[in-house]
Amino acid sequence: MKLTLDTEAQTLTVTGDGRSETLPLYSKAAFEALSRQWVRVGWNQKYQYTFSWMGRPVIQLPEDMLRMQEVIYRLQPDIIIETGVAHGGSLVFYASLCKAMDRGRVVGVDIEIRPHNRQAIQSHALAGLITLIEGSSTAPTVVQQVRGLIKPGETALLILDSNHSYAHVAAELEAYAGMVTPGSYIVATDGIMLDLADVPRGHPEWTTDNPTCAARDFAAAHPEFVIEPPAWPFCESELKLNVTHWPGAWLKRIG
Ligand SMILES: C[S@@+](CC[C@H](N)C(=O)[O-])C[C@H]1O[C@@H](n2cnc3c(N)ncnc32)[C@H](O)[C@@H]1O
Repeated sequence: MKLTLDTEAQTLTVTGDGRSETLPLYSKAAFEALSRQWVRVGWNQKYQYTFSWMGRPVIQLPEDMLRMQEVIYRLQPDIIIETGVAHGGSLVFYASLCKAMDRGRVVGVDIEIRPHNRQAIQSHALAGLITLIEGSSTAPTVVQQVRGLIKPGETALLILDSNHSYAHVAAELEAYAGMVTPGSYIVATDGIMLDLADVPRGHPEWTTDNPTCAARDFAAAHPEFVIEPPAWPFCESELKLNVTHWPGAWLKRIG
């Protein structure tokens, strides 16, 4: 793929995969092509490692966090379960929404919660809304502990952000899907890997070994789930696609 940007002529020429197309630079199509490349360069530059929320590092693209906020506010979940804690920034982000909505609590699962991260999360102003579980997210004892934290009739939202291999995400989906209530989502994050095989920090095997493929195959085998990105609650633009690290991530439970 070759992108030729001409700011004087106000065009973007896209060449590759057997096509060559010159787009108006200030168009929806040009925005989509430039965004894709911007995400790829940004990922390689570790742009997602430059943010924090209420004092804790959060390893996400800000647009994904804002879109998640839109879903959480609409869904009003009773419990938000996230596999993959790291520094705890995303847990604190979700807990801050729960606090503002006066509804919901957060459970974080990580195979290793480093002592300084645990200490920072447990002494945070929002710690009362956060439960930490240490262990592999697919270990039966861990899955059982998480299940035990959900009360009958509660709306649960599940975010998978731990080990992003196809096999691990597929196993997480099988282990946790039953906890997600109809109308709610499982979000298999970081499928952007599938589009990073050729960037300097990427790996060729990511073309197939990624969360997006795991989510796609899970949906094909489980008709109670569909891949459906949530509609934007506000849009006064002709744009329709998220600029995201989470392509094909949103598994909505429909039955
Ligand atoms: C991308 S980081 C999580 C980022 C965090 N959600 C955020 O937004 O800031 C991935 C985390 O997954 C954890 N992890 C890796 N394998 C795991 C497994 N099998 N079970 C649970 N956590 C795992 C790692 O220890 C790491 O902290």
